[in-house]
Amino acid sequence: MMDIIGHIRERRDITREELETLLATKEEETVRQLRKAARETADKAYGKKIFMRGLIEISSYCKNDCLYCGLRRSNRTAVRYRLSDDDIYSCCENGYGLGFRTFVLQGGEDGHFDDERMCRIVSTIRERYPDCAITLSLGERSRESYRALYNAGANRYLLRHETASPEHYALLHPAEMSWQHRMDCLQELKETGYQVGCGFMVGSPYQTFDTLHADLQFIRSFGPQMVGIGPFIPAHDTPFAEMPNGSVETTLRLLAIIRLLLPEVLLPATTALGTLHPQGRELGIQFGANVVMPNLSPLEHRKDYAIYDHKICTGEEAAECRACTEFRIRNIGYETVVDRGDHCSFKGEGL
Ligand code: 5AD
Ligand code: FES
Repeated sequence: MMDIIGHIRERRDITREELETLLATKEEETVRQLRKAARETADKAYGKKIFMRGLIEISSYCKNDCLYCGLRRSNRTAVRYRLSDDDIYSCCENGYGLGFRTFVLQGGEDGHFDDERMCRIVSTIRERYPDCAITLSLGERSRESYRALYNAGANRYLLRHETASPEHYALLHPAEMSWQHRMDCLQELKETGYQVGCGFMVGSPYQTFDTLHADLQFIRSFGPQMVGIGPFIPAHDTPFAEMPNGSVETTLRLLAIIRLLLPEVLLPATTALGTLHPQGRELGIQFGANVVMPNLSPLEHRKDYAIYDHKICTGEEAAECRACTEFRIRNIGYETVVDRGDHCSFKGEGL
């Protein structure tokens, strides 16, 4: 068992059999070794520093119909809102005062946020906060759109690949959505110059060791600067409402494996992980994560950005969420830093 962890570390690769062994084992000592190896690797790259990103959820409208997501267009019971330009700037102002140096603007695929509007928002934030990184998470857009937003001042883009298997992708999405198009978008983002994040849900319906192994192989070959993974959590009024949760334990082991495969990757301990376990985000850090994303969205809309059920941090002001995060991280012996927190390979670039 210990050999497997050593091999993964050395080769920065994992076989299908090694993956299954590590995810299936009931040996606590193996899990302990995996966690230790992942944390040593993270410490070597980033020390005890945990980077904070201020998350601003700009729209709960979405034109897509992903079967797993509470914001899918067919969900008539979802409450829809979108932030105004000024709402977004207020969130940034508040966030900057709380020490955030990265703003993540995330939203459903909402035509209201067309290139003209988004470029105006991004360039305004860029002008007001030259020392901050701007991360976008707005789904699939055209190459021209990605380029325009990059030129307006965005630095990073998060677009989970969701699954590296086209067959699995087709079971999670309606026929009009294409796996190939998603892959093309990721490639275009990379070519445009963004620090790019991909990722997937752990325990999504129809996921297998094979699809997970394909995810890890995709991540290795794509070489993202960020990887977002979190457990699948069913959302009411969606086709997957009655499906079981993803497992916290499997998510933690995969975080550790990803850390070993990509030692310098920016790896968040996600809100979904914190939703399924009261110490989920702390555990995520102990298994190699080095990013947390407290919520800066206006309190009145928090609960309506309902991708899945029982999401945490929907009742807290930005300042509370910030303080809570800091407390939790210190409590386990790590420190939050006021820093853009770029990927090692992008230091000093990207403004
Ligand atoms: N449970 C967990 N994660 C989800 N996402 C969407 N729906 C769910 C769900 N029910 C993830 C997807 C998406 C990201 C914004 O949230 O991976 O890319
Ligand atoms: Fe948001 Fe604890 S991190 S309330």
